[in-house]
Amino acid sequence: MTNQKSLIEFWDVQLRRIWDEGYAEKLSDYLRSLDVKTILDCAGGSGYPAIEFKKMNWDISYSDGVEGTVDFFKKKMIGAEVDIPCFYSKWEDLDGNRPETYDAVLCRGNSFISINSYIDEVLDPPSFEESYDNMKKAVKAFHNSLSPGGVLYIDIPVKEVAKPEKPYSRVDTDNKTFEDKISGSYDPLTKIRELVIDSHNLITGEKVYYKTYQYPISKEELYKLLDEAGFSKVLQSPVDEPQYMDAFVAFK
Ligand SMILES: C[S@@+](CC[C@H](N)C(=O)[O-])C[C@H]1O[C@@H](n2cnc3c(N)ncnc32)[C@H](O)[C@@H]1O
Repeated sequence: MTNQKSLIEFWDVQLRRIWDEGYAEKLSDYLRSLDVKTILDCAGGSGYPAIEFKKMNWDISYSDGVEGTVDFFKKKMIGAEVDIPCFYSKWEDLDGNRPETYDAVLCRGNSFISINSYIDEVLDPPSFEESYDNMKKAVKAFHNSLSPGGVLYIDIPVKEVAKPEKPYSRVDTDNKTFEDKISGSYDPLTKIRELVIDSHNLITGEKVYYKTYQYPISKEELYKLLDEAGFSKVLQSPVDEPQYMDAFVAFK
């Protein structure tokens, strides 16, 4: 079991199986319908959908809170022959770092609950309270990064996968190119979700294995955070999302 790929390199392949090909365009159409002109994708990751959006002529900026991920994105951006303003920032520091505000801030792609995630065992893991406190700061920073009337697009996994009552295990495969064994469990005492991904590339024989820990939050907890940060209205997103994701739009 070797991790020949960094997590972001692995994610760059995974995400294309999770969000269908037409997703970026549907999200773009929805944002245009809200009269959005400028966007910050603050969980920019490997550049999805920022690169697709740039190719659709959006005024989009990129940020991410992991320096290696920003470097990975810069290389992808060069490969895609687009030029997107990009910077490193943790969500919690976003408003302190930047003078600009945007019509839309994206924190999607199953990003938000990874705010204090960690990989494999760590000696001194963050507590739920610490993680929740950082979520509070992050949501406040998203609010401050928006122009008046601006919109935050944010998603979390649905309860059945984020906080399963019993451990689950499944195999995702197309029988030709990949076979991924995915197991998840949730401990209501520590509030930790454990997610194990054991992925096998059936063409190259490459195997990757990751065990990650996160503190998922419920829809009600997210609504509370958004309300406390000052958002005036929150709606379920009308954009088609994978069945195990819940996406929301919160208006400043
Ligand atoms: C699951 S990836 C999703 C990336 C992208 N949105 C997508 O759809 O592919 C989550 C991203 O959130 C970033 N992230 C996690 N915690 C963060 C934080 N506190 N501040 C900024 N970025 C963070 C990670 O570095 C990672 O690139």
